[in-house]
Amino acid sequence: MALPPTVSGAKPLLGHTVEFLRNPDALVERGLREHGTIFSVKLPGRPGVVLLGPDHASFLFKETDKRLSIKDAYPFFLHMFGRAYFLAEQDEYRRQRDILLPQFSGKHIAGHIDLMDRKANEFIDNLPDQGEFDLVEAFGPLIIDITASSFLGEDVAAKFDGFFATFKRFSEGMDPILPGWFPAPHLIRSHRARDLLRKKSKQLIEDRRRNPLPEPDFLQTLSTAIYADTKEPVPDEVLVAMVLMLVWVGHETTVSHLSWAVIDLLRNPHERTKIENEETLDAKTLHRMENLDRALHETERLHPVTNGVVRKAVEDIEYDGHTIPKGAIVVLHPGKSHRLDEVFPDPHEYNPDRFIGQKKPALYGFGGGFHRCLGENFAYTEMKVIVTRLFQRLDLELIDTDPQPAKGQANNWPQSPCRVRYRKLEGHQDSGEKGTDGRCGEHQASSIHS
Ligand code: HEM
Repeated sequence: MALPPTVSGAKPLLGHTVEFLRNPDALVERGLREHGTIFSVKLPGRPGVVLLGPDHASFLFKETDKRLSIKDAYPFFLHMFGRAYFLAEQDEYRRQRDILLPQFSGKHIAGHIDLMDRKANEFIDNLPDQGEFDLVEAFGPLIIDITASSFLGEDVAAKFDGFFATFKRFSEGMDPILPGWFPAPHLIRSHRARDLLRKKSKQLIEDRRRNPLPEPDFLQTLSTAIYADTKEPVPDEVLVAMVLMLVWVGHETTVSHLSWAVIDLLRNPHERTKIENEETLDAKTLHRMENLDRALHETERLHPVTNGVVRKAVEDIEYDGHTIPKGAIVVLHPGKSHRLDEVFPDPHEYNPDRFIGQKKPALYGFGGGFHRCLGENFAYTEMKVIVTRLFQRLDLELIDTDPQPAKGQANNWPQSPCRVRYRKLEGHQDSGEKGTDGRCGEHQASSIHS
């Protein structure tokens, strides 16, 4: 059997590499038109196999950790995090996963809602009465504040001066083209930031061990974690890598999804009204905000954050009448998979109601199978809290009415400028005036929708 058919437009030497990195949507669209839902592209030294739609997605997820490897699929992560978590050998990955999984249970995520809500309110409190802001630029610091405070403790910014700026420099290491050792200025900056983040994260872990909290938080539980099989403590370098990975992977991804969600809702006032009329917001009822849930799903469908769920073939694989050769890069493209007519009728329409009654829609914005995003519920909860607060407390209007996805990025965030004009709504005074301790307690949670 042969490789899946190759899409047109390969250039000498580099094949499809430049188009694959700069404009994957156009390449994938052409591949679909020419060959259907499985085809190849030419990448340096190896073929890439592109998969679209639910059947091929099931294949990719079922074969992951068998004949398709995740750990070698994202080489840039290696110099950022080392061989930790899903980049580790399988046995080690599973041991680490057993430690992290309980921290993402519904109970634990509900425990973060108060903090998310307080941070969202503070964000709005700190805005002048009216003005404009860029969604991506404004949500960046908000999301990292929520993620870092949830996982490392609310005092992290005080204990680590320049935490957020350091994280930004660290992110520059996500370069899909250059190898990590290449002495490019952005990679050097990223490595320096990584070393500083590792040092500071280790200090935070040691500090929490020395000064335990009466009610252990995520950092404390992690600092004292032991492997279930050997009962040995998890080494500090593994803990540090886990901490960095969790704070990092949940950052740009959530900023991107959240920004698109706000854009989609502002472009579709009818859907926005449904959300504004929805259920109250507190830990017990957040899950009942079904309209908002569906709106976030529809944003995930139309603007999935990741341009590719990537794997590497560890052996020759006979699949669907083709051979996927050992070493090939296999890519599930969520963007196009979410716009197949046969799966989602009127695929380019924004219509959250399409998900009514669908328990498991064929969406891959958070991956799938065993490696499905660990932080999906955390991210959905966080986005629900922030969207709810924004629309309750601000009159918002898009200034840039048709933002486009940023080109040439692994994550598909809206290209700045993507600005909104806002005015604070009367009757929603600053949240700080409501509680005596500045926290969003029960009183505030119950008054949110008034
Ligand atoms: C909108 C926000 C997010 C999006 C779109 C997103 C997307 C994804 C995707 C597509 C994967 C699968 C990658 C693959 O299979 O190759 C993934 C995995 C993962 N995500 Fe997220 N993510 C988001 C937020 C978060 C958050 C907030 C966290 C944690 C705080 C997180 C932690 C993880 C982890 C640990 C994995 C690896 C899971 C494993 O291999 O077992 N993510 N995410």
